[in-house]
Amino acid sequence: MIEVRNFTKRYGVHLAVDNISFDAQPGEIVGLLGPNGAGKTTTMRVLTGYMPPTSGSVRVAGHDVMTESLEVRKRVGYLPERVPVYPDMTVREFVQFWAKLRGVKKPNTQTDAVLARFNLTDRKNMLVRSLSKGLRQRLGLAQALVHNPEVVILDEPTIGIDPQQVIEVRENVRQLAKEHTVLFSTHILSEAEQVCDRVLIIRKGQIVAAGRPDELRQQLQPGENLYIAADGGSKAALQQMLMTVPGVSAVEAQGDGFIVRGDLGANIRGAISGQVTQAGYTLLELRPVAMTLEDIFLDIVGRA
Ligand SMILES: Nc1ncnc2c1ncn2[C@@H]1O[C@H](COP(=O)(O)OP(=O)(O)O)[C@@H](O)[C@H]1O
Ligand SMILES: [Mg+2]
Repeated sequence: MIEVRNFTKRYGVHLAVDNISFDAQPGEIVGLLGPNGAGKTTTMRVLTGYMPPTSGSVRVAGHDVMTESLEVRKRVGYLPERVPVYPDMTVREFVQFWAKLRGVKKPNTQTDAVLARFNLTDRKNMLVRSLSKGLRQRLGLAQALVHNPEVVILDEPTIGIDPQQVIEVRENVRQLAKEHTVLFSTHILSEAEQVCDRVLIIRKGQIVAAGRPDELRQQLQPGENLYIAADGGSKAALQQMLMTVPGVSAVEAQGDGFIVRGDLGANIRGAISGQVTQAGYTLLELRPVAMTLEDIFLDIVGRA
Protein backbone atom coordinates (compact mmCIF):
# COMPACT_ATOMS: atom_id res chain seq x y z
CA MET A 1 0.00 0.00 0.00
CA ILE A 2 1.20 3.51 -0.80
CA GLU A 3 0.18 6.67 1.08
CA VAL A 4 1.55 9.99 -0.08
CA ARG A 5 0.50 13.21 1.64
CA ASN A 6 1.65 16.70 0.65
CA PHE A 7 4.88 15.34 -0.68
CA THR A 8 7.37 17.88 -1.99
CA LYS A 9 10.88 17.31 -3.35
CA ARG A 10 13.37 20.01 -4.16
CA TYR A 11 16.81 19.66 -5.69
CA GLY A 12 18.47 22.74 -4.26
CA VAL A 13 16.12 25.51 -5.29
CA HIS A 14 14.60 23.47 -8.09
CA LEU A 15 11.10 22.25 -7.26
CA ALA A 16 10.77 18.77 -8.82
CA VAL A 17 7.65 17.53 -7.00
CA ASP A 18 5.19 20.07 -5.71
CA ASN A 19 2.92 19.03 -2.86
CA ILE A 20 1.31 15.89 -4.25
CA SER A 21 -0.96 13.44 -2.43
CA PHE A 22 -2.22 10.06 -3.59
CA ASP A 23 -2.83 6.47 -2.50
CA ALA A 24 -2.42 3.07 -4.07
CA GLN A 25 -4.25 0.06 -2.68
CA PRO A 26 -3.22 -3.60 -2.75
CA GLY A 27 -4.08 -5.18 -6.07
CA GLU A 28 -4.18 -1.85 -7.81
CA ILE A 29 -2.01 -0.58 -10.66
CA VAL A 30 -1.63 3.16 -10.40
CA GLY A 31 -0.04 5.00 -13.30
CA LEU A 32 2.06 8.13 -13.13
CA LEU A 33 1.56 9.67 -16.54
CA GLY A 34 3.48 12.75 -17.58
CA PRO A 35 6.01 14.17 -20.01
CA ASN A 36 9.76 14.25 -19.44
CA GLY A 37 10.73 16.28 -16.42
CA ALA A 38 7.29 16.01 -14.82
CA GLY A 39 8.69 14.46 -11.65
CA LYS A 40 7.89 10.75 -12.14
CA THR A 41 11.35 9.38 -11.43
CA THR A 42 11.83 11.71 -8.48
CA THR A 43 8.57 10.51 -6.95
CA MET A 44 9.52 6.89 -7.46
CA ARG A 45 12.98 7.31 -5.98
CA VAL A 46 11.50 8.80 -2.85
CA LEU A 47 8.91 6.03 -2.64
CA THR A 48 11.60 3.38 -2.77
CA GLY A 49 13.46 4.92 0.15
CA TYR A 50 16.33 5.87 -2.14
CA MET A 51 16.21 9.53 -1.15
CA PRO A 52 14.19 11.48 1.41
CA PRO A 53 11.29 13.82 0.64
CA THR A 54 11.90 17.52 1.29
CA SER A 55 8.57 17.66 3.09
CA GLY A 56 5.34 15.77 3.46
CA SER A 57 4.60 12.22 4.48
CA VAL A 58 5.36 9.22 2.29
CA ARG A 59 4.43 5.76 3.60
CA VAL A 60 4.99 2.56 1.67
CA ALA A 61 3.86 -0.87 2.86
CA GLY A 62 3.06 0.63 6.24
CA HIS A 63 6.42 2.30 6.82
CA ASP A 64 7.66 5.86 6.57
CA VAL A 65 10.29 6.26 3.83
CA MET A 66 12.17 8.87 5.84
CA THR A 67 12.39 7.24 9.27
CA GLU A 68 12.12 3.57 8.24
CA SER A 69 13.78 3.46 4.84
CA LEU A 70 15.29 0.01 5.46
CA GLU A 71 11.88 -1.46 6.23
CA VAL A 72 10.55 0.16 3.09
CA ARG A 73 13.33 -1.20 0.91
CA LYS A 74 12.62 -4.75 2.06
CA ARG A 75 9.01 -4.40 0.99
CA VAL A 76 9.47 -2.58 -2.30
CA GLY A 77 10.60 -3.88 -5.64
CA TYR A 78 12.00 -1.21 -7.92
CA LEU A 79 12.69 -1.28 -11.61
CA PRO A 80 14.63 1.93 -12.22
CA GLU A 81 14.52 3.91 -15.46
CA ARG A 82 17.88 2.47 -16.38
CA VAL A 83 18.43 -1.01 -15.01
CA PRO A 84 21.86 -0.94 -13.42
CA VAL A 85 23.98 -3.53 -15.14
CA TYR A 86 26.70 -5.56 -13.60
CA PRO A 87 27.89 -6.83 -16.97
CA ASP A 88 30.14 -9.57 -15.73
CA MET A 89 27.48 -11.30 -13.69
CA THR A 90 25.31 -14.01 -15.11
CA VAL A 91 21.56 -13.63 -15.10
CA ARG A 92 21.28 -15.91 -12.10
CA GLU A 93 24.09 -14.21 -10.17
CA PHE A 94 22.51 -10.83 -10.76
CA VAL A 95 19.14 -11.85 -9.34
CA GLN A 96 20.79 -13.72 -6.48
CA PHE A 97 22.86 -10.66 -5.66
CA TRP A 98 19.69 -8.59 -5.24
CA ALA A 99 18.00 -11.35 -3.25
CA LYS A 100 20.88 -11.40 -0.76
CA LEU A 101 21.10 -7.63 -0.63
CA ARG A 102 17.49 -7.57 0.49
CA GLY A 103 17.94 -10.28 3.06
CA VAL A 104 15.80 -12.92 1.35
CA LYS A 105 15.72 -16.02 3.55
CA LYS A 106 16.10 -18.60 0.78
CA PRO A 107 17.95 -16.67 -1.92
CA ASN A 108 18.60 -19.67 -4.18
CA THR A 109 15.06 -20.97 -4.17
CA GLN A 110 13.62 -17.50 -4.61
CA THR A 111 16.02 -16.69 -7.43
CA ASP A 112 15.10 -19.84 -9.34
CA ALA A 113 11.41 -19.22 -8.79
CA VAL A 114 11.54 -15.69 -10.10
CA LEU A 115 13.71 -16.69 -13.08
CA ALA A 116 11.09 -19.28 -13.97
CA ARG A 117 8.31 -16.76 -13.51
CA PHE A 118 9.88 -14.41 -16.03
CA ASN A 119 10.93 -17.14 -18.45
CA LEU A 120 14.60 -16.68 -17.82
CA THR A 121 15.52 -20.17 -16.64
CA ASP A 122 17.00 -21.06 -20.04
CA ARG A 123 19.17 -17.98 -19.89
CA LYS A 124 20.32 -18.12 -16.32
CA ASN A 125 23.96 -18.66 -17.26
CA MET A 126 24.11 -15.89 -19.84
CA LEU A 127 26.15 -12.82 -19.01
CA VAL A 128 24.05 -9.76 -18.30
CA ARG A 129 26.05 -7.78 -20.85
CA SER A 130 25.01 -10.09 -23.66
CA LEU A 131 21.27 -9.63 -23.09
CA SER A 132 19.05 -7.77 -25.52
CA LYS A 133 17.21 -4.76 -24.15
CA GLY A 134 14.00 -6.73 -23.89
CA LEU A 135 15.63 -9.53 -21.91
CA ARG A 136 17.37 -7.01 -19.74
CA GLN A 137 13.99 -5.52 -18.92
CA ARG A 138 12.67 -8.95 -17.97
CA LEU A 139 15.72 -9.42 -15.79
CA GLY A 140 14.96 -6.06 -14.23
CA LEU A 141 11.48 -7.31 -13.36
CA ALA A 142 12.91 -10.51 -11.89
CA GLN A 143 15.32 -8.46 -9.79
CA ALA A 144 12.46 -6.25 -8.60
CA LEU A 145 10.29 -9.22 -7.62
CA VAL A 146 12.81 -11.65 -6.12
CA HIS A 147 11.99 -10.74 -2.53
CA ASN A 148 8.26 -10.92 -3.21
CA PRO A 149 7.69 -7.29 -2.25
CA GLU A 150 4.35 -5.90 -1.22
CA VAL A 151 4.78 -2.87 -3.48
CA VAL A 152 6.31 -2.81 -6.95
CA ILE A 153 7.52 0.42 -8.55
CA LEU A 154 8.31 0.41 -12.24
CA ASP A 155 9.84 3.47 -13.88
CA GLU A 156 8.95 3.62 -17.58
CA PRO A 157 9.57 -0.09 -18.09
CA THR A 158 8.70 -0.08 -21.80
CA ILE A 159 11.12 2.62 -22.93
CA GLY A 160 13.53 1.57 -25.65
CA ILE A 161 12.27 -1.97 -26.24
CA ASP A 162 10.66 -3.30 -29.39
CA PRO A 163 6.86 -3.47 -29.84
CA GLN A 164 6.57 -7.22 -29.20
CA GLN A 165 8.48 -6.83 -25.93
CA VAL A 166 6.37 -3.83 -24.99
CA ILE A 167 3.28 -6.04 -25.17
CA GLU A 168 5.02 -8.66 -23.05
CA VAL A 169 6.13 -6.18 -20.38
CA ARG A 170 2.64 -4.66 -20.18
CA GLU A 171 1.16 -8.11 -19.74
CA ASN A 172 3.70 -8.91 -17.03
CA VAL A 173 2.79 -5.71 -15.22
CA ARG A 174 -0.92 -6.50 -15.38
CA GLN A 175 -0.21 -9.90 -13.86
CA LEU A 176 1.68 -8.30 -10.97
CA ALA A 177 -1.46 -6.60 -9.72
CA LYS A 178 -2.84 -9.94 -8.60
CA GLU A 179 -0.37 -10.03 -5.73
CA HIS A 180 1.15 -6.59 -5.39
CA THR A 181 0.43 -2.89 -5.28
CA VAL A 182 1.93 -1.49 -8.44
CA LEU A 183 3.05 2.03 -9.30
CA PHE A 184 3.91 2.34 -12.97
CA SER A 185 5.18 5.38 -14.84
CA THR A 186 4.92 6.24 -18.50
CA HIS A 187 4.81 9.22 -20.81
CA ILE A 188 2.51 7.35 -23.19
CA LEU A 189 -1.16 7.93 -22.62
CA SER A 190 -2.41 4.83 -24.43
CA GLU A 191 -0.09 2.70 -22.32
CA ALA A 192 -1.39 4.21 -19.09
CA GLU A 193 -4.93 3.54 -20.31
CA GLN A 194 -4.17 -0.08 -21.12
CA VAL A 195 -2.13 -0.99 -18.09
CA CYS A 196 -3.43 1.05 -15.16
CA ASP A 197 -6.55 0.89 -13.03
CA ARG A 198 -6.05 4.49 -12.04
CA VAL A 199 -3.98 7.23 -13.63
CA LEU A 200 -2.41 10.32 -12.10
CA ILE A 201 -1.46 12.89 -14.70
CA ILE A 202 1.58 14.75 -13.49
CA ARG A 203 2.93 17.94 -14.93
CA LYS A 204 5.70 20.14 -13.54
CA GLY A 205 5.63 18.25 -10.27
CA GLN A 206 1.88 18.58 -9.74
CA ILE A 207 -0.98 16.14 -10.18
CA VAL A 208 -3.24 17.90 -12.66
CA ALA A 209 -5.82 15.15 -13.09
CA ALA A 210 -6.53 11.77 -11.57
CA GLY A 211 -8.99 8.96 -12.04
CA ARG A 212 -9.78 5.71 -13.81
CA PRO A 213 -9.05 5.98 -17.53
CA ASP A 214 -12.77 6.13 -18.38
CA GLU A 215 -13.36 8.76 -15.70
CA LEU A 216 -10.47 10.82 -17.01
CA ARG A 217 -11.91 10.71 -20.47
CA GLN A 218 -15.16 12.16 -19.09
CA GLN A 219 -13.49 14.62 -16.79
CA LEU A 220 -11.04 15.91 -19.35
CA GLN A 221 -13.31 16.06 -22.34
CA PRO A 222 -13.25 19.78 -23.00
CA GLY A 223 -16.05 21.75 -24.57
CA GLU A 224 -17.01 21.68 -28.20
CA ASN A 225 -14.33 22.03 -30.88
CA LEU A 226 -15.21 23.38 -34.27
CA TYR A 227 -13.44 23.91 -37.54
CA ILE A 228 -14.42 27.12 -39.26
CA ALA A 229 -13.52 28.60 -42.62
CA ALA A 230 -14.94 31.88 -43.91
CA ASP A 231 -14.40 34.28 -46.78
CA GLY A 232 -14.69 38.03 -47.06
CA GLY A 233 -12.07 39.56 -44.79
CA SER A 234 -8.57 39.14 -43.48
CA LYS A 235 -7.75 35.99 -41.53
CA ALA A 236 -6.26 38.04 -38.74
CA ALA A 237 -9.46 40.05 -38.33
CA LEU A 238 -11.54 36.87 -38.35
CA GLN A 239 -9.36 35.33 -35.68
CA GLN A 240 -9.69 38.45 -33.54
CA MET A 241 -13.42 38.36 -33.89
CA LEU A 242 -13.73 34.66 -33.09
CA MET A 243 -11.82 35.25 -29.88
CA THR A 244 -14.51 37.67 -28.73
CA VAL A 245 -17.38 35.16 -29.13
CA PRO A 246 -18.70 34.23 -25.67
CA GLY A 247 -17.70 30.70 -24.66
CA VAL A 248 -14.68 30.54 -26.99
CA SER A 249 -11.48 29.63 -25.15
CA ALA A 250 -8.98 29.38 -28.01
CA VAL A 251 -8.66 29.94 -31.74
CA GLU A 252 -5.87 28.25 -33.67
CA ALA A 253 -5.12 28.57 -37.37
CA GLN A 254 -5.48 25.33 -39.29
CA GLY A 255 -5.35 25.04 -43.07
CA ASP A 256 -7.53 27.72 -44.61
CA GLY A 257 -9.49 28.20 -41.42
CA PHE A 258 -9.37 27.90 -37.66
CA ILE A 259 -9.98 25.38 -34.93
CA VAL A 260 -12.15 27.04 -32.32
CA ARG A 261 -12.27 25.55 -28.84
CA GLY A 262 -15.27 26.13 -26.66
CA ASP A 263 -15.40 26.26 -22.88
CA LEU A 264 -16.84 23.27 -21.08
CA GLY A 265 -20.61 23.27 -21.53
CA ALA A 266 -20.65 26.27 -23.87
CA ASN A 267 -22.65 25.97 -27.06
CA ILE A 268 -20.55 28.09 -29.39
CA ARG A 269 -21.82 26.91 -32.72
CA GLY A 270 -24.80 29.23 -32.97
CA ALA A 271 -22.96 32.25 -31.64
CA ILE A 272 -20.11 31.78 -34.08
CA SER A 273 -22.24 31.35 -37.16
CA GLY A 274 -24.34 34.39 -36.15
CA GLN A 275 -21.43 36.67 -35.45
CA VAL A 276 -19.42 35.65 -38.53
CA THR A 277 -22.34 36.28 -40.84
CA GLN A 278 -23.23 39.54 -39.12
CA ALA A 279 -19.67 40.78 -39.61
CA GLY A 280 -20.10 40.30 -43.36
CA TYR A 281 -18.14 37.08 -43.84
CA THR A 282 -19.38 34.22 -45.95
CA LEU A 283 -19.32 31.02 -43.95
CA LEU A 284 -17.61 28.31 -46.02
CA GLU A 285 -17.41 25.59 -43.41
CA LEU A 286 -18.41 25.07 -39.79
CA ARG A 287 -18.11 21.56 -38.44
CA PRO A 288 -17.30 19.81 -35.20
CA VAL A 289 -13.87 18.25 -34.82
CA ALA A 290 -13.32 15.29 -32.54
CA MET A 291 -10.49 15.37 -30.05
CA THR A 292 -8.74 12.19 -29.15
CA LEU A 293 -7.81 11.48 -25.56
CA GLU A 294 -4.22 11.95 -26.73
CA ASP A 295 -5.08 15.52 -27.83
CA ILE A 296 -6.73 16.17 -24.49
CA PHE A 297 -3.71 14.85 -22.66
CA LEU A 298 -1.35 16.96 -24.73
CA ASP A 299 -3.54 19.96 -24.02
CA ILE A 300 -3.22 19.36 -20.32
CA VAL A 301 0.49 18.73 -20.19
CA GLY A 302 1.38 21.25 -22.87
CA ARG A 303 2.54 20.48 -26.35
CA ALA A 304 6.14 21.52 -25.76
N1 LIG B 1 19.44 14.80 -9.40
C1 LIG B 1 18.82 15.90 -9.83
N2 LIG B 1 19.31 17.13 -9.55
C2 LIG B 1 18.67 18.24 -9.97
N3 LIG B 1 17.52 18.25 -10.66
C3 LIG B 1 16.98 17.07 -10.97
C4 LIG B 1 17.59 15.83 -10.58
N4 LIG B 1 16.82 14.82 -11.03
C5 LIG B 1 15.77 15.39 -11.67
N5 LIG B 1 15.87 16.74 -11.64
C6 LIG B 1 14.89 17.69 -12.20
O1 LIG B 1 13.66 17.47 -11.55
C7 LIG B 1 12.58 17.52 -12.45
C8 LIG B 1 11.83 16.19 -12.45
O2 LIG B 1 12.66 15.20 -13.02
P1 LIG B 1 12.28 13.67 -13.07
O3 LIG B 1 11.75 13.27 -11.75
O4 LIG B 1 13.44 12.93 -13.60
O5 LIG B 1 11.07 13.69 -14.12
P2 LIG B 1 10.51 12.53 -15.08
O6 LIG B 1 10.95 11.22 -14.53
O7 LIG B 1 9.03 12.73 -15.04
O8 LIG B 1 11.07 12.80 -16.43
C9 LIG B 1 13.17 17.88 -13.80
O9 LIG B 1 13.07 19.27 -13.97
C10 LIG B 1 14.61 17.45 -13.68
O10 LIG B 1 15.44 18.24 -14.49
MG1 LIG C 1 11.94 9.71 -15.44
